[in-house]
Amino acid sequence: MIPLETLQPDPWHFPRPDLAAAYLQAFDLKLSSARGLFARRRMGKTEFLRRDLLPAAAERNYLVAYTNLWDKRSAPDEALVSALAEALEPQGVRAVLAKLGSPVRKLKATARIAGAEGSLEAELGAAGDSAVALREVLRQLDKQKRPLLLVIDEAQVLALADHSDFAHALRAALDVRKDRIKVIFAGSSETTLREMFARASEPFYNWAALEPFPLLGEEFVAFTVKLLNSMARHRLTLEQGMHAFEELHRTPEFFKRFVERYMLYQLQGDEAALAHTRTSVFSDEHFLRQWTELNPADQAIVTMLARGEGDIHGASGLARLTALTGKRATKNTAAHALRRLQSHNIVTRLAIGDYRIEDEAFAEWVRRRRDVRA
Ligand SMILES: Nc1ncnc2c1ncn2[C@@H]1O[C@H](COP(=O)(O)OP(=O)(O)O)[C@@H](O)[C@H]1O
Ligand SMILES: [Mg+2]
Repeated sequence: MIPLETLQPDPWHFPRPDLAAAYLQAFDLKLSSARGLFARRRMGKTEFLRRDLLPAAAERNYLVAYTNLWDKRSAPDEALVSALAEALEPQGVRAVLAKLGSPVRKLKATARIAGAEGSLEAELGAAGDSAVALREVLRQLDKQKRPLLLVIDEAQVLALADHSDFAHALRAALDVRKDRIKVIFAGSSETTLREMFARASEPFYNWAALEPFPLLGEEFVAFTVKLLNSMARHRLTLEQGMHAFEELHRTPEFFKRFVERYMLYQLQGDEAALAHTRTSVFSDEHFLRQWTELNPADQAIVTMLARGEGDIHGASGLARLTALTGKRATKNTAAHALRRLQSHNIVTRLAIGDYRIEDEAFAEWVRRRRDVRA
Protein backbone atom coordinates (compact mmCIF):
# COMPACT_ATOMS: atom_id res chain seq x y z
CA MET A 1 0.00 0.00 0.00
CA ILE A 2 2.57 2.49 -1.08
CA PRO A 3 0.25 5.43 -1.63
CA LEU A 4 -0.72 5.60 2.00
CA GLU A 5 2.67 4.89 3.46
CA THR A 6 4.54 7.62 1.63
CA LEU A 7 2.22 10.39 2.80
CA GLN A 8 3.59 12.54 5.59
CA PRO A 9 1.10 13.88 8.10
CA ASP A 10 0.04 17.40 7.17
CA PRO A 11 -1.41 19.63 9.90
CA TRP A 12 -2.83 21.93 7.22
CA HIS A 13 -4.94 19.17 5.74
CA PHE A 14 -8.62 19.86 6.29
CA PRO A 15 -10.12 16.41 6.85
CA ARG A 16 -13.38 15.45 5.17
CA PRO A 17 -14.46 12.27 6.97
CA ASP A 18 -18.16 12.68 6.20
CA LEU A 19 -17.59 12.91 2.50
CA ALA A 20 -15.36 9.83 2.59
CA ALA A 21 -17.96 7.94 4.61
CA ALA A 22 -20.70 8.92 2.17
CA TYR A 23 -18.85 7.43 -0.78
CA LEU A 24 -18.02 4.24 1.06
CA GLN A 25 -21.53 3.88 2.36
CA ALA A 26 -22.96 4.08 -1.15
CA PHE A 27 -20.65 1.22 -2.08
CA ASP A 28 -21.66 -0.76 0.99
CA LEU A 29 -25.30 -0.32 0.15
CA LYS A 30 -24.50 -1.59 -3.34
CA LEU A 31 -26.09 1.48 -4.81
CA SER A 32 -23.24 1.57 -7.24
CA SER A 33 -19.88 -0.04 -7.80
CA ALA A 34 -18.26 2.79 -9.68
CA ARG A 35 -18.42 6.56 -9.55
CA GLY A 36 -16.92 9.37 -11.53
CA LEU A 37 -16.01 12.70 -9.92
CA PHE A 38 -14.89 15.80 -11.66
CA ALA A 39 -13.66 19.21 -10.60
CA ARG A 40 -11.16 21.66 -11.96
CA ARG A 41 -7.50 21.26 -11.22
CA ARG A 42 -6.29 22.48 -7.82
CA MET A 43 -9.67 22.01 -6.15
CA GLY A 44 -8.66 19.22 -3.78
CA LYS A 45 -9.56 15.97 -5.52
CA THR A 46 -6.23 14.26 -5.11
CA GLU A 47 -5.82 15.42 -1.55
CA PHE A 48 -9.26 14.10 -0.63
CA LEU A 49 -8.76 10.77 -2.36
CA ARG A 50 -5.38 10.09 -0.79
CA ARG A 51 -5.74 11.63 2.63
CA ASP A 52 -9.40 10.98 3.38
CA LEU A 53 -10.98 8.36 1.16
CA LEU A 54 -8.23 5.74 0.93
CA PRO A 55 -7.44 5.70 4.67
CA ALA A 56 -11.16 5.52 5.46
CA ALA A 57 -11.52 2.61 3.05
CA ALA A 58 -8.53 0.81 4.55
CA GLU A 59 -10.11 1.25 7.96
CA ARG A 60 -13.24 -0.40 6.65
CA ASN A 61 -11.22 -3.42 5.64
CA TYR A 62 -10.86 -2.60 1.97
CA LEU A 63 -7.70 -3.31 0.05
CA VAL A 64 -6.85 -0.06 -1.65
CA ALA A 65 -5.19 0.81 -4.93
CA TYR A 66 -4.46 4.32 -6.17
CA THR A 67 -2.95 5.64 -9.33
CA ASN A 68 -2.69 9.10 -10.85
CA LEU A 69 -2.56 8.79 -14.60
CA TRP A 70 -1.53 12.38 -15.21
CA ASP A 71 2.20 11.65 -15.08
CA LYS A 72 1.64 8.26 -16.65
CA ARG A 73 -0.02 9.39 -19.83
CA SER A 74 2.22 7.33 -22.05
CA ALA A 75 1.67 4.11 -20.09
CA PRO A 76 -1.50 4.25 -18.01
CA ASP A 77 -1.86 0.48 -18.40
CA GLU A 78 1.40 -0.22 -16.55
CA ALA A 79 0.51 2.33 -13.90
CA LEU A 80 -2.87 0.71 -13.30
CA VAL A 81 -1.62 -2.84 -13.21
CA SER A 82 1.11 -1.95 -10.77
CA ALA A 83 -1.30 0.02 -8.56
CA LEU A 84 -3.43 -3.13 -8.37
CA ALA A 85 -0.38 -5.28 -7.69
CA GLU A 86 0.64 -3.00 -4.84
CA ALA A 87 -2.58 -3.87 -3.09
CA LEU A 88 -1.38 -7.49 -2.94
CA GLU A 89 0.79 -9.11 -0.32
CA PRO A 90 4.38 -9.80 -1.41
CA GLN A 91 3.66 -13.47 -2.13
CA GLY A 92 0.82 -12.44 -4.43
CA VAL A 93 3.15 -10.11 -6.30
CA ARG A 94 5.70 -12.89 -6.63
CA ALA A 95 3.07 -15.24 -8.00
CA VAL A 96 2.07 -12.68 -10.61
CA LEU A 97 5.64 -12.08 -11.71
CA ALA A 98 6.34 -15.80 -11.86
CA LYS A 99 3.31 -16.30 -14.09
CA LEU A 100 4.50 -13.53 -16.36
CA GLY A 101 7.93 -15.14 -16.57
CA SER A 102 9.50 -12.06 -15.15
CA PRO A 103 12.89 -12.32 -13.37
CA VAL A 104 11.62 -12.26 -9.81
CA ARG A 105 15.08 -12.16 -8.29
CA LYS A 106 15.26 -8.48 -9.13
CA LEU A 107 12.29 -7.71 -6.98
CA LYS A 108 12.98 -8.50 -3.37
CA ALA A 109 9.94 -9.30 -1.30
CA THR A 110 10.55 -6.20 0.75
CA ALA A 111 11.32 -3.85 -2.12
CA ARG A 112 7.95 -2.24 -2.24
CA ILE A 113 7.75 -1.82 1.50
CA ALA A 114 11.10 -0.03 1.44
CA GLY A 115 9.46 2.44 -0.92
CA ALA A 116 11.05 1.22 -4.13
CA GLU A 117 8.19 2.66 -6.10
CA GLY A 118 8.53 2.25 -9.81
CA SER A 119 10.49 -0.97 -9.65
CA LEU A 120 7.36 -3.08 -9.56
CA GLU A 121 5.96 -1.02 -12.37
CA ALA A 122 9.09 -1.60 -14.40
CA GLU A 123 8.93 -5.34 -13.72
CA LEU A 124 5.32 -5.58 -14.79
CA GLY A 125 5.95 -3.37 -17.78
CA ALA A 126 8.89 -5.51 -18.83
CA ALA A 127 6.55 -8.48 -18.87
CA GLY A 128 5.07 -7.15 -22.08
CA ASP A 129 1.36 -7.43 -22.69
CA SER A 130 -0.44 -5.29 -20.13
CA ALA A 131 -3.76 -7.07 -20.65
CA VAL A 132 -2.10 -10.34 -19.64
CA ALA A 133 -0.48 -8.70 -16.63
CA LEU A 134 -3.86 -7.27 -15.65
CA ARG A 135 -5.44 -10.71 -15.79
CA GLU A 136 -2.76 -12.25 -13.58
CA VAL A 137 -2.95 -9.48 -11.00
CA LEU A 138 -6.73 -9.78 -10.86
CA ARG A 139 -6.46 -13.53 -10.51
CA GLN A 140 -4.40 -12.99 -7.38
CA LEU A 141 -6.81 -10.34 -6.13
CA ASP A 142 -9.68 -12.78 -6.63
CA LYS A 143 -8.13 -14.97 -3.94
CA GLN A 144 -8.44 -12.18 -1.39
CA LYS A 145 -11.40 -12.13 0.91
CA ARG A 146 -11.38 -8.38 1.26
CA PRO A 147 -13.04 -6.05 -1.23
CA LEU A 148 -10.87 -3.64 -3.20
CA LEU A 149 -11.24 0.07 -3.75
CA LEU A 150 -9.49 1.20 -6.90
CA VAL A 151 -9.04 4.94 -7.29
CA ILE A 152 -8.06 6.18 -10.73
CA ASP A 153 -7.06 9.82 -10.56
CA GLU A 154 -6.97 11.89 -13.78
CA ALA A 155 -8.80 8.99 -15.37
CA GLN A 156 -9.56 10.91 -18.55
CA VAL A 157 -6.18 9.69 -19.79
CA LEU A 158 -7.88 6.33 -20.40
CA ALA A 159 -10.06 8.03 -22.98
CA LEU A 160 -7.09 8.61 -25.25
CA ALA A 161 -7.38 6.60 -28.42
CA ASP A 162 -3.98 4.96 -27.87
CA HIS A 163 -5.19 3.26 -24.72
CA SER A 164 -8.49 2.03 -26.04
CA ASP A 165 -7.59 -1.68 -26.07
CA PHE A 166 -6.41 -1.64 -22.50
CA ALA A 167 -9.41 0.40 -21.40
CA HIS A 168 -11.72 -2.21 -22.92
CA ALA A 169 -9.83 -5.01 -21.18
CA LEU A 170 -10.04 -3.15 -17.88
CA ARG A 171 -13.73 -2.53 -18.18
CA ALA A 172 -14.42 -6.18 -18.99
CA ALA A 173 -12.32 -7.31 -16.03
CA LEU A 174 -14.02 -4.92 -13.64
CA ASP A 175 -17.47 -5.73 -14.98
CA VAL A 176 -17.39 -9.29 -13.73
CA ARG A 177 -16.05 -8.21 -10.33
CA LYS A 178 -18.51 -5.47 -9.47
CA ASP A 179 -19.30 -7.10 -6.16
CA ARG A 180 -15.76 -7.00 -4.91
CA ILE A 181 -14.00 -4.20 -6.76
CA LYS A 182 -15.30 -0.67 -6.34
CA VAL A 183 -13.89 2.02 -8.56
CA ILE A 184 -13.62 5.78 -8.29
CA PHE A 185 -12.70 7.68 -11.41
CA ALA A 186 -11.60 11.25 -10.79
CA GLY A 187 -10.68 13.80 -13.35
CA SER A 188 -10.13 17.45 -14.16
CA SER A 189 -11.81 17.49 -17.52
CA GLU A 190 -15.55 17.18 -17.27
CA THR A 191 -15.94 17.05 -21.04
CA THR A 192 -13.57 14.17 -21.47
CA LEU A 193 -14.93 12.23 -18.52
CA ARG A 194 -18.44 12.71 -19.81
CA GLU A 195 -17.46 11.30 -23.13
CA MET A 196 -15.84 8.33 -21.47
CA PHE A 197 -19.10 7.40 -19.80
CA ALA A 198 -21.66 8.70 -22.25
CA ARG A 199 -20.45 7.60 -25.64
CA ALA A 200 -21.58 4.20 -26.79
CA SER A 201 -18.29 3.56 -28.54
CA GLU A 202 -16.24 4.24 -25.40
CA PRO A 203 -15.13 1.37 -23.15
CA PHE A 204 -16.68 2.82 -20.00
CA TYR A 205 -20.00 3.65 -21.62
CA ASN A 206 -22.77 3.79 -19.04
CA TRP A 207 -20.54 2.36 -16.41
CA ALA A 208 -20.23 4.99 -13.73
CA ALA A 209 -22.42 7.81 -12.56
CA LEU A 210 -20.60 11.08 -13.10
CA GLU A 211 -21.03 13.85 -10.57
CA PRO A 212 -19.30 17.04 -9.52
CA PHE A 213 -16.83 16.67 -6.69
CA PRO A 214 -18.09 18.71 -3.69
CA LEU A 215 -15.85 21.74 -3.43
CA LEU A 216 -14.20 23.18 -0.36
CA GLY A 217 -15.86 26.22 1.16
CA GLU A 218 -16.19 28.24 4.32
CA GLU A 219 -15.46 25.37 6.71
CA PHE A 220 -12.14 24.81 5.02
CA VAL A 221 -11.33 28.52 5.24
CA ALA A 222 -12.35 28.63 8.89
CA PHE A 223 -10.18 25.61 9.68
CA THR A 224 -7.17 27.12 7.93
CA VAL A 225 -7.61 30.58 9.45
CA LYS A 226 -7.90 29.07 12.93
CA LEU A 227 -4.68 27.14 12.49
CA LEU A 228 -2.96 30.21 11.08
CA ASN A 229 -4.08 32.29 14.04
CA SER A 230 -2.65 29.74 16.47
CA MET A 231 0.78 30.59 15.03
CA ALA A 232 0.49 34.18 13.83
CA ARG A 233 1.02 37.36 15.84
CA HIS A 234 -1.40 39.31 13.68
CA ARG A 235 -4.68 37.52 13.49
CA LEU A 236 -6.60 37.08 10.30
CA THR A 237 -10.39 37.30 10.60
CA LEU A 238 -12.68 34.78 8.97
CA GLU A 239 -14.08 37.63 6.86
CA GLN A 240 -10.63 38.50 5.57
CA GLY A 241 -10.00 34.83 4.87
CA MET A 242 -13.29 34.44 2.99
CA HIS A 243 -12.60 37.58 1.02
CA ALA A 244 -9.24 36.21 -0.13
CA PHE A 245 -10.80 32.82 -0.88
CA GLU A 246 -13.47 34.44 -3.08
CA GLU A 247 -10.94 36.65 -4.84
CA LEU A 248 -8.89 33.56 -5.63
CA HIS A 249 -11.91 31.93 -7.26
CA ARG A 250 -12.44 29.62 -4.30
CA THR A 251 -9.35 27.66 -5.24
CA PRO A 252 -7.84 25.85 -2.22
CA GLU A 253 -4.37 25.70 -3.69
CA PHE A 254 -4.25 29.47 -4.24
CA PHE A 255 -5.79 30.14 -0.86
CA LYS A 256 -3.05 28.12 0.81
CA ARG A 257 -0.46 30.21 -0.99
CA PHE A 258 -2.18 33.34 0.25
CA VAL A 259 -2.05 32.00 3.81
CA GLU A 260 1.63 31.21 3.47
CA ARG A 261 2.37 34.69 2.15
CA TYR A 262 0.34 36.28 4.93
CA MET A 263 2.18 34.23 7.53
CA LEU A 264 5.57 35.38 6.26
CA TYR A 265 4.69 39.06 5.82
CA GLN A 266 2.07 39.63 8.50
CA LEU A 267 2.90 43.29 8.97
CA GLN A 268 1.99 44.04 5.36
CA GLY A 269 -1.55 42.86 6.01
CA ASP A 270 -4.01 40.64 4.18
CA GLU A 271 -4.65 42.86 1.15
CA ALA A 272 -0.96 42.94 0.32
CA ALA A 273 -0.74 39.17 0.69
CA LEU A 274 -3.75 38.79 -1.58
CA ALA A 275 -2.33 41.13 -4.21
CA HIS A 276 0.91 39.22 -4.16
CA THR A 277 -0.85 35.87 -4.46
CA ARG A 278 -2.99 37.07 -7.34
CA THR A 279 -0.08 38.31 -9.37
CA SER A 280 2.02 35.25 -8.68
CA VAL A 281 -0.60 32.60 -9.44
CA PHE A 282 -3.31 34.12 -11.36
CA SER A 283 -4.62 32.66 -14.37
CA ASP A 284 -4.88 35.82 -16.39
CA GLU A 285 -1.15 36.40 -16.49
CA HIS A 286 -0.42 32.71 -16.70
CA PHE A 287 -2.87 32.00 -19.50
CA LEU A 288 -1.95 35.17 -21.31
CA ARG A 289 1.67 34.05 -21.36
CA GLN A 290 0.66 30.60 -22.54
CA TRP A 291 -1.44 32.26 -25.25
CA THR A 292 1.15 34.73 -26.51
CA GLU A 293 3.71 31.96 -26.82
CA LEU A 294 1.49 30.29 -29.42
CA ASN A 295 1.83 31.18 -33.07
CA PRO A 296 -1.24 32.46 -34.97
CA ALA A 297 -2.22 29.10 -36.44
CA ASP A 298 -2.01 27.44 -33.01
CA GLN A 299 -4.06 30.24 -31.48
CA ALA A 300 -6.68 29.81 -34.18
CA ILE A 301 -6.92 26.06 -33.59
CA VAL A 302 -7.16 26.55 -29.82
CA THR A 303 -9.92 29.10 -30.37
CA MET A 304 -11.86 26.72 -32.57
CA LEU A 305 -11.50 23.84 -30.13
CA ALA A 306 -12.49 26.03 -27.18
CA ARG A 307 -15.64 26.99 -29.05
CA GLY A 308 -16.47 23.43 -29.93
CA GLU A 309 -15.81 23.85 -33.64
CA GLY A 310 -14.59 20.32 -34.10
CA ASP A 311 -14.23 19.86 -37.83
CA ILE A 312 -10.78 21.32 -38.27
CA HIS A 313 -9.59 19.41 -41.28
CA GLY A 314 -12.77 19.82 -43.30
CA ALA A 315 -13.46 22.58 -45.81
CA SER A 316 -15.39 24.74 -43.37
CA GLY A 317 -12.75 24.27 -40.69
CA LEU A 318 -9.99 25.33 -43.03
CA ALA A 319 -12.04 28.33 -44.10
CA ARG A 320 -12.38 29.31 -40.43
CA LEU A 321 -8.67 28.83 -39.94
CA THR A 322 -7.98 31.06 -42.94
CA ALA A 323 -10.32 33.72 -41.59
CA LEU A 324 -8.80 33.63 -38.12
CA THR A 325 -5.18 33.75 -39.24
CA GLY A 326 -5.66 35.94 -42.30
CA LYS A 327 -3.58 33.48 -44.32
CA ARG A 328 -4.75 30.72 -46.62
CA ALA A 329 -4.74 27.58 -44.49
CA THR A 330 -4.17 24.06 -45.84
CA LYS A 331 -4.56 20.66 -44.24
CA ASN A 332 -0.87 20.89 -43.45
CA THR A 333 -1.33 24.11 -41.51
CA ALA A 334 -3.90 22.39 -39.32
CA ALA A 335 -1.89 19.19 -38.94
CA HIS A 336 1.29 20.98 -37.93
CA ALA A 337 -0.50 23.19 -35.44
CA LEU A 338 -2.23 20.19 -33.89
CA ARG A 339 1.05 18.33 -33.60
CA ARG A 340 2.72 21.29 -31.89
CA LEU A 341 -0.19 21.76 -29.51
CA GLN A 342 -0.14 18.09 -28.56
CA SER A 343 3.58 18.03 -27.95
CA HIS A 344 3.15 20.97 -25.58
CA ASN A 345 0.35 19.16 -23.74
CA ILE A 346 -2.12 21.88 -24.61
CA VAL A 347 -4.31 19.70 -26.78
CA THR A 348 -5.18 16.01 -26.48
CA ARG A 349 -6.30 13.72 -29.23
CA LEU A 350 -9.25 11.60 -28.14
CA ALA A 351 -9.80 9.75 -31.37
CA ILE A 352 -8.99 10.28 -35.01
CA GLY A 353 -9.92 13.86 -35.87
CA ASP A 354 -11.25 14.48 -32.36
CA TYR A 355 -9.25 16.94 -30.25
CA ARG A 356 -9.70 18.62 -26.88
CA ILE A 357 -7.96 21.35 -24.94
CA GLU A 358 -6.46 19.66 -21.90
CA ASP A 359 -6.97 22.38 -19.37
CA GLU A 360 -10.62 23.34 -19.20
CA ALA A 361 -9.66 26.50 -17.33
CA PHE A 362 -7.52 27.57 -20.26
CA ALA A 363 -10.31 26.71 -22.70
CA GLU A 364 -12.64 28.87 -20.69
CA TRP A 365 -10.13 31.71 -20.63
CA VAL A 366 -9.91 31.50 -24.43
CA ARG A 367 -13.69 31.54 -24.76
CA ARG A 368 -14.03 34.52 -22.46
CA ARG A 369 -11.31 36.36 -24.32
CA ARG A 370 -13.31 35.98 -27.50
CA ASP A 371 -16.49 37.15 -25.84
CA VAL A 372 -14.76 40.29 -24.69
CA ARG A 373 -13.61 41.10 -28.18
CA ALA A 374 -16.89 40.21 -29.87
N1 LIG B 1 -8.66 19.13 2.23
C1 LIG B 1 -7.66 20.01 2.03
N2 LIG B 1 -7.07 20.61 3.10
C2 LIG B 1 -6.09 21.51 2.93
N3 LIG B 1 -5.61 21.89 1.73
C3 LIG B 1 -6.15 21.34 0.64
C4 LIG B 1 -7.20 20.39 0.72
N4 LIG B 1 -7.55 20.02 -0.52
C5 LIG B 1 -6.74 20.71 -1.35
N5 LIG B 1 -5.90 21.50 -0.67
C6 LIG B 1 -4.86 22.37 -1.23
O1 LIG B 1 -5.08 22.51 -2.63
C7 LIG B 1 -3.98 21.95 -3.37
C8 LIG B 1 -4.50 21.27 -4.62
O2 LIG B 1 -5.25 20.14 -4.25
P1 LIG B 1 -5.29 18.83 -5.15
O3 LIG B 1 -5.92 17.77 -4.33
O4 LIG B 1 -3.93 18.53 -5.69
O5 LIG B 1 -6.24 19.30 -6.32
P2 LIG B 1 -6.71 18.49 -7.60
O6 LIG B 1 -6.35 17.06 -7.43
O7 LIG B 1 -8.20 18.72 -7.64
O8 LIG B 1 -6.02 19.14 -8.77
C9 LIG B 1 -3.29 21.05 -2.39
O9 LIG B 1 -1.92 20.90 -2.71
C10 LIG B 1 -3.49 21.76 -1.07
O10 LIG B 1 -2.56 22.80 -0.92
MG1 LIG C 1 -5.11 15.98 -8.67
